[in-house]
Amino acid sequence: MYRKAYGTSEKGAAGAKQSQTSEQPIATMATEKVEAVVCNVNDLKSGEMKEVDVGGVGTALLVREGDIFYAIGPKCSHYGAPLSKGVLCNGRVRCPWHGACFNVKNGDIEEFPGLDSVPSYKVEVTEGKVKVRADKLSLTNVKRQRAMCKASPGNKSVLIIGGGPASVMCAETLRQEGFQGEITIVTREKYLPYDRIKLSKAMDIKPDAIALRTADYYKNHDISVKLGTEVTHVSTSEKLVKCADGSSAKYDKLVIATGGQPRVLPTPGVDLENVYSLRTPDDANSIAAAAKGKHVVIIGSSFIGMEVAAYLADKAASLSVVDIVKVPFQLTLGDKVGSVLQKAWKLRPICQERQQVFKLYVGVKFLWNMYLATGLVVFSLRCMKRMV
Ligand SMILES: Cc1cc2nc3c(=O)[nH]c(=O)nc-3n(C[C@H](O)[C@H](O)[C@H](O)COP(=O)(O)OP(=O)(O)OC[C@H]3O[C@@H](n4cnc5c(N)ncnc54)[C@H](O)[C@@H]3O)c2cc1C
Ligand code: FES
Repeated sequence: MYRKAYGTSEKGAAGAKQSQTSEQPIATMATEKVEAVVCNVNDLKSGEMKEVDVGGVGTALLVREGDIFYAIGPKCSHYGAPLSKGVLCNGRVRCPWHGACFNVKNGDIEEFPGLDSVPSYKVEVTEGKVKVRADKLSLTNVKRQRAMCKASPGNKSVLIIGGGPASVMCAETLRQEGFQGEITIVTREKYLPYDRIKLSKAMDIKPDAIALRTADYYKNHDISVKLGTEVTHVSTSEKLVKCADGSSAKYDKLVIATGGQPRVLPTPGVDLENVYSLRTPDDANSIAAAAKGKHVVIIGSSFIGMEVAAYLADKAASLSVVDIVKVPFQLTLGDKVGSVLQKAWKLRPICQERQQVFKLYVGVKFLWNMYLATGLVVFSLRCMKRMV
């Protein structure tokens, strides 16, 4: 016997207008239902998933786990990747592009990047047929936001240090879980929290284009964001933070979400103007502008280093990726995958002698001689934890 599985389709709140393509009014679409047989039970084995058409209105990701079928939005809420091309494991689908995870039972997002969940739909199995039922609006919406409460006076306050996705997610989760106190995000960045991961993939992108939420969004949900404010001191006994600009703020609860900072080599010359590390939109934009027609050395051959290489490949005069490992991604993906990628991308290994030179931390001599006079160097080593 196949059991019924029910999703908890919430109506998309913000974002509904943008995603709506039909001429029908939103209110009608939100209430109008569509129901369709999407496949036979035996079309999908346990552990398999596929994107199915739902009555010509939209598509859903149909997932089978054991004898139970689930249906959720087919596209990642981050940048719309097809989730059917991702990985299904233990009740979660991992997005193929940047790894966000969604719960197949209710479409809730469970792992960064991305902030929003995806819709979920009701599934019924009768007489060997799998049927999906949904409201039309949720079928045309990639994103689903959980309802959020407003602040009200007389409640405790939460202060969040840092303006990255962890801080935004924390603030939103508090409001979604019914926290009505004051929420303040304090960040030293001059831009509203943005999607940092884009910076190595589209290096000339402007911060507005990758803002996680708009200024209005924070305002509407009573979340204040203090930009350009670096916290320099935390007094837990006084429940107070002090900032570089001389200001201070009291809190009832404190969240420290200060993220990481780029690792650079402890070597002379790292402060020269044509040596960069990549963390902020300003870094990315400066590298993109400075690299045009130049000889570029990228230090580090994991994700960020190789993404920067891919972005600059048709812009720089030459590109060299330097690392102490033998193949790209060796530390993260292992020798075998690294070797396959090296061959696929026709990467020419740098000679052993240079690797050794680099390994001994006098690589700077090599870099100086070969590149610094005319080119630029980008550090893309694993980041370090940042403390206040
Ligand atoms: C170029 C690049 C590409 C990436 N690509 C991917 C990817 O494809 N997929 C993926 O999953 N991850 C990727 N990552 C990693 C991802 O960006 C991080 O995991 C994520 O940003 C961590 O979020 P966070 O909120 O914890 O910290 P951060 O994003 O580091 O945010 C911390 C914030 O705290 C602020 N801050 C720090 N100290 C203070 C202080 N004392 N006072 C006030 N504010 C302070 C910082 O300015 C910053 O805004 C990438 C990272 C980089 C740099
Ligand atoms: S598109 Fe899915 S995580 Fe980015």
